[in-house]
Amino acid sequence: MTLPPPAAALRPHAEQSFAEELAALERADSRTRPPGWRLSPWAVTRYILGGTLEDGTEITPKYIGARRVVEVAVATLATDRALLLLGVPGTAKTWLSEHLAAAIAGDSTLLVQGTAGTAEEAIRYGWNYARLLAEGPSEAALVPSPIMTAMSEGRPARVEELTRIPSDVQDALITVLSEKTLPVPELGTEVQAKRGFNVIATANDRDRGVNDLSSALRRRFNTVVLPVPATVEDEIDIVTRRVADLGRSLELPEVPTSLAEIRRVVTVFRELREGATADGRAKVKSPSGTLSTAEAISVVTSGIALAAHFGDGTLRPADVAAGIHGAVVQDPVSDGVVWREYLETVARDRDGWDDFYRACREVSG
Ligand SMILES: Nc1ncnc2c1ncn2[C@@H]1O[C@H](COP(=O)(O)OP(=O)(O)O)[C@@H](O)[C@H]1O
Ligand SMILES: [Mg+2]
Repeated sequence: MTLPPPAAALRPHAEQSFAEELAALERADSRTRPPGWRLSPWAVTRYILGGTLEDGTEITPKYIGARRVVEVAVATLATDRALLLLGVPGTAKTWLSEHLAAAIAGDSTLLVQGTAGTAEEAIRYGWNYARLLAEGPSEAALVPSPIMTAMSEGRPARVEELTRIPSDVQDALITVLSEKTLPVPELGTEVQAKRGFNVIATANDRDRGVNDLSSALRRRFNTVVLPVPATVEDEIDIVTRRVADLGRSLELPEVPTSLAEIRRVVTVFRELREGATADGRAKVKSPSGTLSTAEAISVVTSGIALAAHFGDGTLRPADVAAGIHGAVVQDPVSDGVVWREYLETVARDRDGWDDFYRACREVSG
């Protein structure tokens, strides 16, 4: 299943991008591996958090945050309980889920994207109707869902945005998770999950509550909450690393990214999110958007593209101003007021923020 990265893939899967790291970990890993796992829980955790192996291989950190969070997630997957990663948008739920699947099975592609329109076939199985009509129900006419494939191959399946899936469809997961089997009454058979099967789900605790998860289903999951970065330094670290990774993979021209510019984007986002200035002295109104770490990453990345192609090759306040404006002002009326108030009461008089203030004023008119 794991193919080498096609040179032109816009976004290779984690197991492709980090194939060398995964191979080095596999060689170095002498600990017990749970049935069906390519790596031990220790090595999976090392892959996620980064570090240097005895043979000198550098493992880059994927998730930046508390070790315990990752250990609990990995330990859960080594049991027969499924894992639910919960948090506000942009806390790396999807990111962590992909890397967990890549490290455990070398395959992060067995994925169900949860939406209001997700049907039961996406969780159980569907039919190739041409064949079904021609031959009647048969193994060849059956189209397995990613979950069914994960069960029969003994790998983890990922379910994105679980709570957006209608409840009756979610319930199809209950049998899968409790009985570890998926009956196919049309064929009089069932698929029994092989060891190594598990489910990694993500859910957003912003758009709809986790209460929408039926209690029967909820009991099948261990919930791990991914927090927003605790300190401004942590968040700057995440943004800096991810921006560098993204710039490399998009092959953006090298732009000296001033740390000061990243710090400013992160500071603005945090102050607006938290409703107070970093020193705690002044209150600030919060806009309607989430202003997540993920959005800070994309503001800086687009700033770099602007600087490289249209600017003087250095990331300047004017290169991030438009991106920040777009992230903050989602509702042109109410958020526009909040943003202008922030600019006038906080940004204008801050030391070293003159250029930034002017650039933002220009964008917001
Ligand atoms: N703690 C973190 N460590 C590493 N990357 C992070 C962290 N928080 C956010 N990110 C980055 O933010 C981006 C978006 O995360 P994503 O997984 O899509 O968020 P979610 O699914 O929680 O909405 C990813 O590119 C990820 O690298
Ligand atoms: Mg997500």
